[in-house]
Amino acid sequence: MGETDEETAKPKPNLPWKLKLFLGAISWVIERSLRPNMTVNRRLINFFDPKIPPSPNPRRGSDSVASSDITVDHSRNLWFRLFNPSPTTGSTGSGNGVSGMPIIVFYHGGGFAIGHANSMIVDTAARRLSRELRAIIVSVNYRLAPKHRLPCQYDDGFDVLRFIDEMDTEGLPANADLSRCFLAGESAGGNLAHQVAVRAAEHDFKRVNLLGLIAIQPFFGGEERVESEKQFSRGPFLTLDAIDWYWRAFLPEGTDRDHAAVNVFGPNAVDITGLRFPPTLLFIGGCDPLRDRNVRYYEGLKKSGKQVHVVEYPNAVHGFSGFKEIPESCLFLREVKDFMEMQMAKEKV
Ligand SMILES: *[C@@H]1O[C@H](CO)[C@@H](O)[C@H](O)[C@H]1NC(C)=O
Repeated sequence: MGETDEETAKPKPNLPWKLKLFLGAISWVIERSLRPNMTVNRRLINFFDPKIPPSPNPRRGSDSVASSDITVDHSRNLWFRLFNPSPTTGSTGSGNGVSGMPIIVFYHGGGFAIGHANSMIVDTAARRLSRELRAIIVSVNYRLAPKHRLPCQYDDGFDVLRFIDEMDTEGLPANADLSRCFLAGESAGGNLAHQVAVRAAEHDFKRVNLLGLIAIQPFFGGEERVESEKQFSRGPFLTLDAIDWYWRAFLPEGTDRDHAAVNVFGPNAVDITGLRFPPTLLFIGGCDPLRDRNVRYYEGLKKSGKQVHVVEYPNAVHGFSGFKEIPESCLFLREVKDFMEMQMAKEKV
């Protein structure tokens, strides 16, 4: 972060060897699926990205999270998977927001080009958030690049928020409390969550009240290479080649990585100083090629006068939060829980 020494020791990731192999294999498959002619080998990706159905009637027990899929717009295949950690309380509710369970609108990672709300890996992560945070999770299935480029993903992300704002009480679980909404996103989903927060700041919602933004190693970039991109250009998990490919597939033709969507506080930045931007909890991994981008994001939010709390794990790799085998992913859950409770307590006053 504030290092001046050029010979800064490169932090070492702490990965159990099984997970290290797994992440290595996944990143190998992804790199081979992102073709030089800017198409994705979906057949290869899908083979390693199994899809699972929702579970509307979970068994009672420790993991009794119920899930269901809700369509927002058929014409663009926009839908979300809703996770409810206490499905039984729904039937006893006598109106909206009785027991006041917070709602987290969650955007998955995958460089804007891969992953779905029904991908096993995304489903597992969202289910864990729901169970551990005791929150309703709205896991958004947004359109993917390169077929759909910017701003499709941002449109989809924001339209889901508008959709739940208009949803009647039958659509949402009775215990869902729209006055306690959070946005959360991992990697590309973190970039998306940021952009949705920007749009939401200028929109009048009927019921949705945004209490916070949880940005988990958000995917930002820029033309100039930063130190972490050099240090971790070969990963683990996320490589610089993949990063460059994702931006090329996402950005409109003729633009570069200093586009405001990529380099949010760079030369073409949109000024957010005057916006009603929610308090932000930002997670940074010390062994993530995006580390220094995330540090700049923190500084940018600060300079814009926004409330931001940063948590940096020196040995965490990109994508750490989704793997319960990584010790930091448990610390991560605790931080998110504390942050949510603090924002909700502020709101009560
Ligand atoms: C891109 O490359 C793949 C594999 O080499 C090929 O099957 C596909 O037709 C190409 N697509 C385009 C649009 O050039």
